[in-house]
Amino acid sequence: MESVDKALWTTDFDTGIAVVDSQHKRLFALYNRLVELIESEQNTKAVISDLIDYTEYHFSCEEALMEQYNYPETAFHMDQHTTFIGEIMELIQKQSVENAAAYLRAFANFLKSWLVDHIQGTDRTLIGIVPADANPNNAAAQ
Ligand SMILES: [Fe+2]
Ligand SMILES: [Fe+2]
Repeated sequence: MESVDKALWTTDFDTGIAVVDSQHKRLFALYNRLVELIESEQNTKAVISDLIDYTEYHFSCEEALMEQYNYPETAFHMDQHTTFIGEIMELIQKQSVENAAAYLRAFANFLKSWLVDHIQGTDRTLIGIVPADANPNNAAAQ
Protein backbone atom coordinates (compact mmCIF):
# COMPACT_ATOMS: atom_id res chain seq x y z
CA MET A 1 0.00 0.00 0.00
CA GLU A 2 1.01 3.58 -0.72
CA SER A 3 3.07 5.13 2.09
CA VAL A 4 2.28 8.44 3.75
CA ASP A 5 4.89 10.76 5.18
CA LYS A 6 4.64 13.68 7.53
CA ALA A 7 5.35 17.12 6.13
CA LEU A 8 8.42 18.68 7.74
CA TRP A 9 8.66 22.46 7.83
CA THR A 10 11.85 23.91 6.38
CA THR A 11 12.79 27.51 5.62
CA ASP A 12 11.96 26.77 1.95
CA PHE A 13 8.32 27.20 2.97
CA ASP A 14 8.76 30.62 4.60
CA THR A 15 7.26 33.59 2.79
CA GLY A 16 8.26 36.04 5.53
CA ILE A 17 4.60 37.14 5.73
CA ALA A 18 3.87 36.28 9.37
CA VAL A 19 0.17 35.49 9.11
CA VAL A 20 0.64 33.38 5.96
CA ASP A 21 3.54 31.40 7.45
CA SER A 22 1.67 30.69 10.67
CA GLN A 23 -1.41 29.51 8.77
CA HIS A 24 0.74 27.27 6.55
CA LYS A 25 2.34 25.78 9.68
CA ARG A 26 -1.11 25.05 11.08
CA LEU A 27 -2.04 23.31 7.79
CA PHE A 28 1.11 21.18 8.10
CA ALA A 29 0.17 20.30 11.70
CA LEU A 30 -3.34 19.24 10.66
CA TYR A 31 -1.94 17.21 7.77
CA ASN A 32 0.56 15.53 10.14
CA ARG A 33 -2.28 14.67 12.51
CA LEU A 34 -4.08 13.07 9.58
CA VAL A 35 -0.99 10.95 8.83
CA GLU A 36 -0.82 9.80 12.47
CA LEU A 37 -4.48 8.79 12.42
CA ILE A 38 -4.09 6.93 9.13
CA GLU A 39 -1.06 5.05 10.40
CA SER A 40 -2.75 4.09 13.65
CA GLU A 41 -5.99 3.23 11.81
CA GLN A 42 -8.09 5.69 13.79
CA ASN A 43 -11.04 7.71 12.57
CA THR A 44 -9.98 10.55 10.28
CA LYS A 45 -13.34 12.19 9.69
CA ALA A 46 -12.95 15.09 12.14
CA VAL A 47 -9.41 15.97 11.11
CA ILE A 48 -10.32 15.92 7.41
CA SER A 49 -13.21 18.24 8.11
CA ASP A 50 -10.88 20.55 10.12
CA LEU A 51 -8.35 20.48 7.29
CA ILE A 52 -10.94 21.53 4.72
CA ASP A 53 -12.37 24.27 6.95
CA TYR A 54 -8.96 25.65 7.80
CA THR A 55 -7.82 25.50 4.15
CA GLU A 56 -10.87 27.52 3.10
CA TYR A 57 -10.24 30.03 5.89
CA HIS A 58 -6.57 30.33 4.89
CA PHE A 59 -7.47 30.87 1.23
CA SER A 60 -9.92 33.62 2.16
CA CYS A 61 -7.22 35.37 4.23
CA GLU A 62 -4.68 35.17 1.40
CA GLU A 63 -7.26 36.43 -1.09
CA ALA A 64 -8.14 39.38 1.16
CA LEU A 65 -4.43 40.28 1.27
CA MET A 66 -4.17 40.01 -2.53
CA GLU A 67 -6.95 42.54 -2.93
CA GLN A 68 -5.62 44.89 -0.28
CA TYR A 69 -2.14 45.05 -1.82
CA ASN A 70 -3.12 44.98 -5.51
CA TYR A 71 -1.33 41.72 -6.13
CA PRO A 72 -1.12 41.33 -9.93
CA GLU A 73 -1.75 37.57 -10.10
CA THR A 74 -4.96 37.50 -8.05
CA ALA A 75 -7.13 35.81 -10.70
CA PHE A 76 -4.58 33.08 -11.42
CA HIS A 77 -3.88 32.47 -7.73
CA MET A 78 -7.56 32.41 -6.72
CA ASP A 79 -8.24 29.97 -9.54
CA GLN A 80 -5.63 27.58 -8.10
CA HIS A 81 -7.34 27.77 -4.69
CA THR A 82 -10.82 27.20 -6.15
CA THR A 83 -9.67 24.30 -8.31
CA PHE A 84 -7.98 22.64 -5.34
CA ILE A 85 -11.09 22.88 -3.15
CA GLY A 86 -13.12 21.41 -6.03
CA GLU A 87 -10.68 18.51 -6.41
CA ILE A 88 -10.77 17.82 -2.66
CA MET A 89 -14.58 17.79 -2.64
CA GLU A 90 -14.62 15.43 -5.61
CA LEU A 91 -12.21 13.07 -3.85
CA ILE A 92 -14.36 13.11 -0.73
CA GLN A 93 -17.40 12.13 -2.77
CA LYS A 94 -15.48 9.23 -4.26
CA GLN A 95 -14.28 7.88 -0.94
CA SER A 96 -14.27 4.16 -0.72
CA VAL A 97 -15.54 2.18 2.23
CA GLU A 98 -14.09 -1.14 1.01
CA ASN A 99 -10.68 0.34 0.35
CA ALA A 100 -10.69 2.93 3.11
CA ALA A 101 -7.00 2.62 3.98
CA ALA A 102 -5.80 2.90 0.37
CA TYR A 103 -8.22 5.75 -0.29
CA LEU A 104 -7.02 7.74 2.74
CA ARG A 105 -3.39 7.30 1.79
CA ALA A 106 -4.02 8.55 -1.73
CA PHE A 107 -6.06 11.45 -0.34
CA ALA A 108 -3.28 12.44 2.10
CA ASN A 109 -0.60 12.25 -0.60
CA PHE A 110 -2.64 14.41 -2.97
CA LEU A 111 -3.14 16.97 -0.20
CA LYS A 112 0.53 17.04 0.73
CA SER A 113 1.87 17.34 -2.79
CA TRP A 114 -0.57 20.16 -3.63
CA LEU A 115 0.24 22.08 -0.43
CA VAL A 116 4.01 21.69 -0.84
CA ASP A 117 3.93 22.77 -4.51
CA HIS A 118 1.55 25.66 -3.94
CA ILE A 119 3.36 27.02 -0.87
CA GLN A 120 6.78 26.76 -2.51
CA GLY A 121 5.52 28.08 -5.83
CA THR A 122 2.47 30.32 -6.15
CA ASP A 123 2.41 31.53 -2.54
CA ARG A 124 5.98 32.78 -2.87
CA THR A 125 4.81 35.26 -5.51
CA LEU A 126 3.12 37.16 -2.64
CA ILE A 127 6.60 38.04 -1.32
CA GLY A 128 7.48 41.69 -1.87
CA ILE A 129 3.85 42.62 -2.52
CA VAL A 130 2.19 41.68 0.76
CA PRO A 131 4.14 43.16 3.70
CA ALA A 132 5.59 40.91 6.42
CA ASP A 133 3.22 42.28 9.06
CA ALA A 134 0.07 42.43 6.89
CA ASN A 135 -3.22 41.65 8.60
CA PRO A 136 -5.97 39.99 6.57
CA ASN A 137 -8.59 40.95 9.15
CA ASN A 138 -7.96 44.60 8.33
CA ALA A 139 -7.94 43.71 4.65
CA ALA A 140 -11.27 41.91 4.90
CA ALA A 141 -12.81 44.85 6.74
CA GLN A 142 -11.89 47.36 4.04
FE1 LIG B 1 -1.17 29.59 1.22
FE1 LIG C 1 -2.24 30.45 -2.03
